Amino acid sequence: MTKHRQARIIATGSYLPERVLSNCDLEKMVETTDEWIVTRTGMKERRIARPDEYTSEMGFHAAERALAAAGMASEQLDLILFATITPDFAFPSSACLLQARLKAVNAAAADVQAACTGYLYILSQAKAYIESGLYKNILIVASEKLSSIVNYEDRNTCVLFGDGASACIVSGEGDGLLVRDVCLGADGELAELLMVPAGGSRKPATQETVCAKEHYLKMEGKEVFKHAVRRMEAACKECIDRVGLKESEISWLIPHQANIRIIEAIAKRFEVPSDRVFLTIHKYGNTSASSVGIALDELLKSCKLRSGENLLLTAFGSGLTWGASVLTWNCGEESHA
Ligand code: ACO
Repeated sequence: MTKHRQARIIATGSYLPERVLSNCDLEKMVETTDEWIVTRTGMKERRIARPDEYTSEMGFHAAERALAAAGMASEQLDLILFATITPDFAFPSSACLLQARLKAVNAAAADVQAACTGYLYILSQAKAYIESGLYKNILIVASEKLSSIVNYEDRNTCVLFGDGASACIVSGEGDGLLVRDVCLGADGELAELLMVPAGGSRKPATQETVCAKEHYLKMEGKEVFKHAVRRMEAACKECIDRVGLKESEISWLIPHQANIRIIEAIAKRFEVPSDRVFLTIHKYGNTSASSVGIALDELLKSCKLRSGENLLLTAFGSGLTWGASVLTWNCGEESHA
């Protein structure tokens, strides 16, 4: 009889650029205050990539760290899935650029675009590929250079976003975090709430679109906020129910780091104590697709998990898209803190 293989995250990695953009720096760029940003968002700093630190390059550093933690050579990878809204180019994919940089000569490679929910979308795909038996070792990478699409004259958006990358190896064997389930959703009727209006095939870049700053990210924050809380709450509930857990059995909440008030609303709904909500928002802001993965990597490196502990990941973003995942630490040993 064929043994059912269950997908698991066997190693993680992340990469943050060195340059820090603080709230005090932003006070000098737009009409804002440290006090407004901290109380309305929970953010104090974010990281900004150098010109030569493009999306695939940050992804490369995160991937190298995940491969090293797994003790795996890049030739052992069968597939690379790359989530981003800020690819190096419209095409070829950042996944292919990363595949070449890693010399992952045996891996197929493709990008996936699901905005801030990108990490959960590619985790779900990796789980399906592993459990179907099609692939053995998959690298998933989420990397964003949001500073390349942020208008630093628009105080409504420029305080919110930062750059960074995360990665993990999903495999059918080994110790790590079992991917118990991933629940995803989308509502394209609300696409216009959060978008880059020009530069695609519907409105190709022209002198006019550039002058009108339509190649920058635009967001209706208040509307997005309402949907974020509702959709993440529903996705979390569905995922917890599907794996047959009680809400009280969740050890850690690892949410998308978009706004501390959204995170607190979700934590309150699932009665997760504040010291069990893993936060990076104060130091990195919203890094879109990479945010959940960066937080997961930092949690695993800063805290020892016990076998059987359950993690709840949730994210929300442009599309609109949303999702949640339950992971369970399965290891004879404590996590690699
Ligand atoms: N500094 C000072 N004042 C500001 C700033 C700022 N940086 N930004 C906005 N304001 C002002 C506004 O102009 C407005 O002033 P007015 O009342 O005179 O018009 C006032 O503050 C309130 O603005 P709101 O937009 O109503 O502020 P809100 O409390 O909703 O916070 C925020 C805005 C932080 C954007 C919030 O709505 C939010 O976090 N939304 C969700 C974002 C999110 O989840 N995004 C998801 C994914 S991102 C992705 O997919 C790429």
